[in-house]
Amino acid sequence: MSNIGSYDERIKNFDWSIAEKELGYNNGNVLNIGWYCSDRICQLGKADKMALLWEDSTGREKRYTYNDIRLASNTIGTFLKDLGIGNEDRVCLFMDKIPELYLGFVGILKIGAIAQPLFSAFGDESLYVRLHDARTSAIITQRKHVGKVRKIIDKMPYLKHIIVVDHDGRKPLKEREIAFSLEEAEPVEHLEIFPTTAESASVLHYTSGTTGQPKGVKHVHYSLIAQYLSTRWVLDLQEDDIYWCTADPGWVTGTSYGIIGPWSVGATQCVQDAGFSAEAWYRFIEKRKVTVWYSAPTAIRSLMKAGEDLVRKFDLSSLRHLASVGEPLNAEAVVWSERVFGHPFLDTYWQTETGSIMLTNFPGMKIKPGSMGKPFPGIKATVVDAKTYEPITEPGRVGLIAFRPGWPSMMRAYWNNEATYQGKFKNGWYLSGDRSSIDRDGYFWFTGRDDDVINTGGHLVSPFEVESALLEHEAVAESAVVAKPDEVNMEVVKAFVALKPGFEPDADLELRIMNFIRKKLSPLAMPQEIEYVDSLPKTRSGKIMRRLLHAKEWGEEVGDTSTLEDDE
Ligand code: PRX
Repeated sequence: MSNIGSYDERIKNFDWSIAEKELGYNNGNVLNIGWYCSDRICQLGKADKMALLWEDSTGREKRYTYNDIRLASNTIGTFLKDLGIGNEDRVCLFMDKIPELYLGFVGILKIGAIAQPLFSAFGDESLYVRLHDARTSAIITQRKHVGKVRKIIDKMPYLKHIIVVDHDGRKPLKEREIAFSLEEAEPVEHLEIFPTTAESASVLHYTSGTTGQPKGVKHVHYSLIAQYLSTRWVLDLQEDDIYWCTADPGWVTGTSYGIIGPWSVGATQCVQDAGFSAEAWYRFIEKRKVTVWYSAPTAIRSLMKAGEDLVRKFDLSSLRHLASVGEPLNAEAVVWSERVFGHPFLDTYWQTETGSIMLTNFPGMKIKPGSMGKPFPGIKATVVDAKTYEPITEPGRVGLIAFRPGWPSMMRAYWNNEATYQGKFKNGWYLSGDRSSIDRDGYFWFTGRDDDVINTGGHLVSPFEVESALLEHEAVAESAVVAKPDEVNMEVVKAFVALKPGFEPDADLELRIMNFIRKKLSPLAMPQEIEYVDSLPKTRSGKIMRRLLHAKEWGEEVGDTSTLEDDE
């Protein structure tokens, strides 16, 4: 029996107080996600239950019970507090998927500070724009990444502490750096939890938009209500499950459903700190006896590519429930997964800004492969007309996905960017920036984004960021960056470049440009291809028409370009 039972029954008389009651939260009282993810589970009598089964690519393993999570987060929290870090200070987590990342996240929240997780593969420039925007006070990192912080430290007087969790004493620490070893630190039995309430800031995730620098999405502790309930009802985590969320906590899936969700429901989760390999993933599922698996379409398409014969080499019979997020999950992937794993991947749709799952397929619900499913109970979702922002009532007609504001995990702000935040709301709706239709049965069908952001392998890339990096190169006069179709990643980044006079469009130059921008961009944002052009198509006001280039790449009708020229 699934946790949700009947979807139709659940949406009748739904109220978020269901989650508040289950969590024992009374409106207005202290609400601290860190406490809910550790101390509370211990208080419920599950102190010895396994919370985290961790391993890396070399097979090194670590195990943590809920009591271990409680103690470790107390210890990290106390260390930070002793450094003078406190309420609402931003603390960046800049690490691979090592235990300190997960435990540090909980510790930061316990002392009322704001956790700012960033993907450890970010280069120094990507790191800098995000730390600078947030005026981050401290960064917790590893030896292997500290060099990137050193490169930008002089530009960041507000960054007071660089905490290195694996300092081995071989090389001396530099200015503002301090070593912390979870294994050597005295475990802290008691930490006074900072009395955060529902609206206290908790997590700051950076996400890319079409224009401008990445935006810091501010979440609050009340997000727990939706993250907890959706973990129970969509991911269906139950007492004996072994859960695997493949996402990195540098992204929202890795925090909402890679830390907060599973630990607030007291589940056992496992983490593999290793790159993708179909074989290694299957081996991990077999070894850990994973029952519930939350992953992403690009990974699933890569598994499909690796073939069914590989699947048969492993015993994957422990799997009972599979879900996916981040990009369109094509119908073939749903059908394939049902055939080879015995269970279809259920598509879920949400965003950094929404904080929790908004549209989804539930266990037990009729699945229509290729559809994102239906709104989570309590979520009022629709598609609206792009001009009037009125809900579209006609089944099958495409509009902008819109949600009625007010669900618990909705972002509360873009960090220091009120105008952009306000721009997300029209006619009383929050606009997601995606397009979809809704069929007669109320299922949502994704059709695409409503902006130029590129979704490559589930990671959002701002064309503006890539274009800006290209323009800094001495040979580049103009550039336009669009998505290009790709079998596995769905979209990859393609750059069109017009050169300044005197530069030859050859392979050597392409290599030099690539090397130049590699230092500035995250590896995920790197173009797969540079195409040299004499000039780029522009609107009358001189804005580059990315949409025209995009349409050509996708073999789509360009339509009437005179309107394109006018409209931006
Ligand atoms: O365009 C949608 C796409 O990913 C965007 C959100 O990305 P991000 O904020 O990084 O969060 C990703 C993980 C929650 C959306 O605006 N997206 C997400 N899920 C789906 C999707 N596109 C199609 N189908 C989905 N299920």
